Amino acid sequence: MAFIMDGNRRFASRLNKASTAGHEFGYLKLLDALEWCLEMGVSCVSVFAFSIDNFKRPPQEVAMLMQLAEEKLEELLQEYKLIEKHGVCIRVLGDLSLLPLSVRAAADRVMEATQHHKRGRLNICLAYGSWQEMSQAIGHLQKEVQSGSLSPEDVDGRALDARSHTAGCPPVDILIRTSGESRLSDFLLWQSGTAQLQFTDVLWPEFSFWDLLKALVLWQLARPDLERIGQAAERRRQTHAYS
Ligand code: IPE
Ligand code: MG
Repeated sequence: MAFIMDGNRRFASRLNKASTAGHEFGYLKLLDALEWCLEMGVSCVSVFAFSIDNFKRPPQEVAMLMQLAEEKLEELLQEYKLIEKHGVCIRVLGDLSLLPLSVRAAADRVMEATQHHKRGRLNICLAYGSWQEMSQAIGHLQKEVQSGSLSPEDVDGRALDARSHTAGCPPVDILIRTSGESRLSDFLLWQSGTAQLQFTDVLWPEFSFWDLLKALVLWQLARPDLERIGQAAERRRQTHAYS
């Protein structure tokens, strides 16, 4: 399950509040949504918290969002009961070199504290973009081939997947974008090839348990088709050189 959490500022402006408040609400909703997903048996959740493109926002807003990210990563450790109860390993994915050092340190702390958890997974995509991710993965493959640690025949889709930020995670089954926008915005493009895309008008801070339930029902209804398509894709991967 993946979420493009969109609509925080519009939510704040509806309440006549500053955009920071919208992002605060957005973070609280992330915790709720994570808990609902875990309770409903969804064990891998990926969220788009900040894209590489978001660095183009006004510097003051970027600084505010970075400060918030740092604070919220610290706070996640205080939510340890929820994280521990469901055995959630938290990973912060993206080009972490673009983040301020203090945010990077907070990300490292949360990843280290939860790395032994095996049952659930929360991928927080921060300074993330699929193009960056794929370019980096291809760069790794190239270096490994050059150094002789990987033979050129072993360069295939699986090898690329293993070097993606989400290595070890299942492909995305449902990708939800809130706030009426129907764009993928360079989010998990490689991982979402067989995902069901769901676009809802609800703004992220107002996303409710019922919205999640509706998403799960829509996915269940489409599941026979999605499974057939997924299996066909898997067969193609196994029988072609680009597997
Ligand atoms: C999503 O909400 C959060 C981030 C991208 C950081 P927005 O900040 O995009 O809020 P809207 O879409 O302008 O309402
Ligand atoms: Mg937006």
